[in-house]
Amino acid sequence: MGGPDELAQLFRGLAGRRESEAPLAPHSSFGIGGPADLLLLPPNVAALREAAALAREHGVALVVLGAGTNVLVSDAGVRGVVLSLKDGFQELGIQAGNGGGGRHAEGGAEVVVRAEAGVKQARLARFAQQHGLAGAEFMIGIPGTVGGAVRMNAGTRAACTADILLDAEVLLPDGRLATLSREEIDLSYRASALPAEAIVVAARFRLVRDDPTRIAERMAADSARRKATQPLACRSAGSFFKNPPGTSAGWLIDAAGLKESAVGDARVSRRHANFLINVGQARARDVVALMRQVQHSVACRWDVWLTPEVTMVGDEHAAHEPEEEAG
Ligand code: EPU
Repeated sequence: MGGPDELAQLFRGLAGRRESEAPLAPHSSFGIGGPADLLLLPPNVAALREAAALAREHGVALVVLGAGTNVLVSDAGVRGVVLSLKDGFQELGIQAGNGGGGRHAEGGAEVVVRAEAGVKQARLARFAQQHGLAGAEFMIGIPGTVGGAVRMNAGTRAACTADILLDAEVLLPDGRLATLSREEIDLSYRASALPAEAIVVAARFRLVRDDPTRIAERMAADSARRKATQPLACRSAGSFFKNPPGTSAGWLIDAAGLKESAVGDARVSRRHANFLINVGQARARDVVALMRQVQHSVACRWDVWLTPEVTMVGDEHAAHEPEEEAG
């Protein structure tokens, strides 16, 4: 329903910042994307629930943008409302009364940490280290938020969110706020069973006591490795494709000779072939065209179809999808 003016009118009573026809490029690590009809930044759960209820009642599409680090926003932007949780949802702490009660498989005492959805994963990793809690080290180099980590089981080669998630508080599409266990969320490789319209509000993680110095050393080693192998200074969305079972997208793309292939200002990184980077004024359609080229070339060379890890946001993308496996 409605264009930017009607939406601004409909959501005018809500607490929190809002912006009509808000350019989304500044909210995306790719630096790409057209405007949202309305960008809302609810400061708390009450405002979020109210926004979701209004959207449901009036048939307005809602898209949640986390840190915008794993998305490609279409050039036409997003019709409807885009929600960002970065103005609130920043609480982070050790749950009172634990211990967690349990013991980790390797013997240490478990401690439960709760983080709201807008908390950056790197902040959670540093908090855990400072409190002598191991398990979240892998998050130090992941630029996204806790909400995004739960939704897509963020991780590295060493570990992933599923390894430490206890449960998550989720605003369900019917408006209920529910606590879902890790099993109910059903995390798999860079995916979860959460419905697209569900919104993660907070999550609890089970960490284990360890020596802060040793934890810091592991985090430093991970950061150094990333710095050496990934184009961290470039605008990108991290790994663009999922790793196919038993192999790695970066290796497949590199060995197919595709490093530095480009469409407009979208380019395959020389440093890591599974990073598509925006070297100037790339548009979403350039990135999508480059993605296609890479998918087809890798399919021709290796008979493997690469699936994006990056989430496509916005109307225009619908026209391109889904493209199915070659051969
Ligand atoms: N490789 C090449 N050429 C390249 C890039 C990689 O031959 O241009 C080879 C490497 O030599 C290595 C293999 O491919 O043998 C795998 O590369 P890497 O170790 O860099 O790991 P990755 O599978 O590409 C994953 C995550 C990263 C995470 C790293 C480190 C996925 C899709 N990606 O990358 O996560 O930082 O492990 O733990 O699982 C992200 O998800 O955004 C992300 C950056």
